[in-house]
Amino acid sequence: MARTITGNHHITLSVGDGQEDWDFHTQVLGLRPIKKTMLYDGEAPVWHLYYSNGSLDAGSIITTFPMRQHGKMGRRGSNQIKEIGLSIDESSIDYWANRFDELGIACEHVEEFGTKRLKFAHPCGLPYTLVGTTGDPRGGWGERGVPAEHGIKGAYAPIISVIDPFEMTLYLEHGMGMSKVDEEDGRQAWELPGDGLARRVELVHEPDVRPGTWHFAEGTPHHWAWNVPDEPTQFSVKTWLEGLGFTDVTEQKDRGYFKSIYNRTPGGALFEYAWTPEDRGFLVDEPEDKLATTIQIPPVFKDRAEEMIAFLDPIEDRV
Ligand SMILES: [Fe+2]
Repeated sequence: MARTITGNHHITLSVGDGQEDWDFHTQVLGLRPIKKTMLYDGEAPVWHLYYSNGSLDAGSIITTFPMRQHGKMGRRGSNQIKEIGLSIDESSIDYWANRFDELGIACEHVEEFGTKRLKFAHPCGLPYTLVGTTGDPRGGWGERGVPAEHGIKGAYAPIISVIDPFEMTLYLEHGMGMSKVDEEDGRQAWELPGDGLARRVELVHEPDVRPGTWHFAEGTPHHWAWNVPDEPTQFSVKTWLEGLGFTDVTEQKDRGYFKSIYNRTPGGALFEYAWTPEDRGFLVDEPEDKLATTIQIPPVFKDRAEEMIAFLDPIEDRV
């Protein structure tokens, strides 16, 4: 059974205002804007914004659906991704604390699982955690106020709130092939085998916290995508999970830049398993020096392009 899941592919979040999200990710966090497109699902036009580290590395992509224009507010809670864990060099923790102080953004120093961390929030309230790491070769972007050596490298781990960890640990171990690598204070850390990056999941046991919302709604994480190397592996993962009883793995969905399947885990977090064919990726519709400069209309909505662009609040790249 070739179910090699290698690490993070991308992270997708439901945020508030689109311009606010764009400014936060590009100007505050110093991430690189790489795509301005729309949600492929449903009927209403929703922006889908993509950001990355300096070199579009696997596992460095954050994507967002701005939901404020649609009036859909979410509730954060248990059985949901609780914090977005991102990797920075451990020597950069103080740089970021000073930067947040200067920008008037509240942050908190913590130490968890032996790593120094900085917790703060997206303007829509979504909790983020910068985790100090060593030896992460992914490079920062370095072109918007944050020097490349201090830049965000990419995903570290989804930090997931679970009412009861048992069923989720079964999924991580038997469904994904992870092993428990650490435990402390009601928290567990699990990792995929191998030496790839962002192979980790952290669970926080919160039995008394009301479950959070799962639909597209402001202020909530939507899913965490894992990378699989190719289509046979993706289908193998689907077959394996279905064989364990997780029969709600979706059919393959073509997301333009990659191909995806999704599965709601028993810990509540939605996981995606994605692979990027050689003829896809983020350079398929824009050259590298023009990324995110034009609006990319999803193929399913090509005949409604004008209507959809007119509906959406414009987003400017304000340097
Ligand atoms: Fe996704």
